[in-house]
Amino acid sequence: MINDLWYKNAVIYSLNVGTFMDSNGDGIGDFVGLTRRLDYLHGIGIDAVWLQPFQPSPFRDDGYDVVDHYGVDPRHGSLGDFVEFTHAAKSRGIRVLIDLVVNHTSDEHPWFQSARRDPDSPYRDWYVWSEKKPKNANEGMVFPGVQETTWTWDDRAGAYYFHRFYEFQPDLNTSNPRVQAEILKIMGFWLQLGVSGFRMDAVPFIIGTKGPDVVKPVEQFDMLRTFREFIQWRQGDAVMLAEANILPEDDLDYFGTDGDRSHMMFNFQVNQNLFYALASAETKPLVQALKATKARPASGQWGQFLRNHDELDLGRLTEEQRNRVFAAFGPEEHMQLYHRGIRRRLAPMLGGDRRRLELAYSLMFTLPGTPVLRYGDEIGMGDDLSLPERNCARTPMQWSTEPQGGFTKGDKPVLPVVTGGPWGFETINVAAQRRDPNSLLNWTERMIRARHEAPEIGWGDYALVATRDPGVIALRYDWRGNSVLVVHNLHDAPREVRLRAGTPEGDRLIDLLGDGHSRAETDGRHRLVLEPYGYRWFRVGGLDYILNRQEI
Ligand code: GLC
Ligand code: CA
Repeated sequence: MINDLWYKNAVIYSLNVGTFMDSNGDGIGDFVGLTRRLDYLHGIGIDAVWLQPFQPSPFRDDGYDVVDHYGVDPRHGSLGDFVEFTHAAKSRGIRVLIDLVVNHTSDEHPWFQSARRDPDSPYRDWYVWSEKKPKNANEGMVFPGVQETTWTWDDRAGAYYFHRFYEFQPDLNTSNPRVQAEILKIMGFWLQLGVSGFRMDAVPFIIGTKGPDVVKPVEQFDMLRTFREFIQWRQGDAVMLAEANILPEDDLDYFGTDGDRSHMMFNFQVNQNLFYALASAETKPLVQALKATKARPASGQWGQFLRNHDELDLGRLTEEQRNRVFAAFGPEEHMQLYHRGIRRRLAPMLGGDRRRLELAYSLMFTLPGTPVLRYGDEIGMGDDLSLPERNCARTPMQWSTEPQGGFTKGDKPVLPVVTGGPWGFETINVAAQRRDPNSLLNWTERMIRARHEAPEIGWGDYALVATRDPGVIALRYDWRGNSVLVVHNLHDAPREVRLRAGTPEGDRLIDLLGDGHSRAETDGRHRLVLEPYGYRWFRVGGLDYILNRQEI
């Protein structure tokens, strides 16, 4: 079982092929370039990559507007290059997850072109139409401030079409059995080419009912079960990682109480409250978010993340909490987006403060679930706020001090490389950090090693350990007779806490990251002195878990 559910104790790394490594000097990252960088990824110790869309696309939404679900955009290479890549990844033990974007297509997709041209087209029912303008056309936009409506008139079709996202992304009629069959076919195709699963884009919208009369979409959860059965039948180790920014009360519907729907989901609830905790040094809302999202089936797993390719969405915080995060991490209007989030990268949000970066990462690595890193965050890359919307945090990977940060030999990168100043490639790059044992890159590598060696976090159950300090959070993970205790001080000042590990062997704590081992005092409590933003990972009891661990 342990090795079958590989995602339970894994570290996932997300990247965009187009901005990772360009092999031929045309300024666009490609699969040949990415394949050459696999040893770098292997060296960091990650278990899986999640690739953002690389299929043929006009790239009006960074590839989330697909025109052919069965291809590789020629800018990134060929299907042959893709298979070479998945093969090379596999030989290094790295699994490949890809984005599956099937809530909508590009309006240039041949299906939509056929559907809009002819009411009798076999593809007409693949999209969602209305002859009259629906009453709720001005509601439910995902990109408020940029997107004006969810129903747009199409002259060629003589009807309005529905689009949850931008107007060039018509929604597929996902209730149509033919569309559902096509989705399975797409998944089957990529599984055959070597992927181990999918980051499913926009899941609540895929499974929600759509149409001009739909006031409140109803989720069709059976679809998730069908997807899961299909992919597991085709390939046993394949997983679905759902993007679903939902309320905790709906989590089990998405996982399936019997573990028969999504294997994994991103924990948006914890993500927002984590940023609130970092901004305010108040951990209570984070603890509440952890409790609210605790229940999940045995095979279900959270993906824990800090930043991703989208804005940091703070829509689920109270207005007061959100304002506090804005004030701390994105005070200026051009740092904010869609009236709900911050579009910056992590390192500039934290002022490049190494202590805070380590704290944030250490939390991400030790929250219940599987950590999902974003390319460039391992070296503390910055952003370029002169770029529109979310592109600011999607600039090319900074490899070296070579021109264009070593990303391309050409002089026209697909997005500008961050240049000059504290975040420029001249200062922040892989080559320099590789040589420096104290760099963020080498720190991240050590943390990933430590995280793998603490499978309790990925597999186990956690208990909150009282610290009596609202800014210091302590969690103990228990799994198969072993325990790990992690303590984080969110204050900008040192703190002393006294705590009980809470297990029979809990009078000894072995520091997993340094030599701050601890023995309990006579009252059974440990006295821990934490630096500002300090963190500790301990193994409880000091037993060597490798001796004690049972493989099943
Ligand atoms: C998801 C993606 C986002 C994209 C949108 C439309 O939210 O994360 O980047 O714009 O779906 O596909
Ligand atoms: Ca290229």
